Amino acid sequence: MSTTETNANIAATTTFGKVPTDHMFIAEYKNGKWNEGTLTRFQHISLSPFALCFHYGQTVFEGMKAFRMKDGQVNVFRPLKNFERMNLSLERMCMPPLSEELFMHGVSEMVKADKKFIDEDEESSLYIRPLVIATEERIGVKVSDEYLFIVMCSPAKKYFANPIKVKVETEFTRAAEGGTGFAKCGGNYGAAYYPTHLAHLQGYDQVIWTDGQNHEYMEESGTMNVIFVVDGTLITPALSGTILEGITRDSILTLARKNGMKVEERRVSVKEIQDAFESGKKVEACGVGTVAVVAPIEQIDINGKKYTPFTGDNSQMAKMKRQLLEIRLGIQKDENGWNYMVK
Ligand SMILES: Cc1ncc(COP(=O)(O)O)c(C=O)c1O
Repeated sequence: MSTTETNANIAATTTFGKVPTDHMFIAEYKNGKWNEGTLTRFQHISLSPFALCFHYGQTVFEGMKAFRMKDGQVNVFRPLKNFERMNLSLERMCMPPLSEELFMHGVSEMVKADKKFIDEDEESSLYIRPLVIATEERIGVKVSDEYLFIVMCSPAKKYFANPIKVKVETEFTRAAEGGTGFAKCGGNYGAAYYPTHLAHLQGYDQVIWTDGQNHEYMEESGTMNVIFVVDGTLITPALSGTILEGITRDSILTLARKNGMKVEERRVSVKEIQDAFESGKKVEACGVGTVAVVAPIEQIDINGKKYTPFTGDNSQMAKMKRQLLEIRLGIQKDENGWNYMVK
């Protein structure tokens, strides 16, 4: 059983990641270059067990969403940011970069072909998963000379059914300085399963990782960056190389600044957040990411003590979540040019 299936808080209605849409886009890298790729029916692919992706971890992926706007048009939210991040991840894993043209062609073709999978309700979207894997057939620790780029999709709805419970993790480490924390490579996720599984067994939905050196500073959570609002000031760990540069994080920070909130991107110590709770400050805590969007944290366990952040529709984070949703649905003006319209 996977760690996510042991987590009772995943919204019961979600088909997230279980159901593919009708199509997939696939391109091949051989002899030092990518071909132009093609849209096909969704189908299994056949690879030799010798394919390098099965052995040494050269796999990189992305995740973004397409939304149906109130006027019926469909947009993808900030896909060029995913393109840039994918190339950063590919570089770190010694894999060949994608051109913007190939990446965007694959994404656009998929959204055009499968946009009917976006339901009418506001929280519905099309989750888009680009993936690059090493396919050269070779048992031997070497950089692959051959790859596949695949774009696949799955219909998405609300992810967490309820606010989440998290534990600040001070034993296991997700990423260390100089490592691959900033890259969206498969190994980062496989390595997180075991500590997350233990947290699920203890009744938590997720862990908040802390720095690999002394476990003193907050990092991020599962597939989400973390944001705190302490007495009205938004505080979030700075991009240090050990956390993923989240596009939802960047979007929320942009909205917060525009709304006139004080925003601090810096090291956030576990003690600082614990002290804020202990001294009776009003603390909001959320995980933010493409899949869960803004997931309010209703219980946070720090050094064995449980604290209750402020949640609910009146929280600053809930208001920004609504703002983000309305921009994506075309209800509020897209002042930042985030919606990439798919014709
Ligand atoms: C480890 C990790 N951190 C943070 C995020 C949030 O990033 P984004 O907002 O771009 O989805 C994700 C999801 O992609 C992730 O996998």
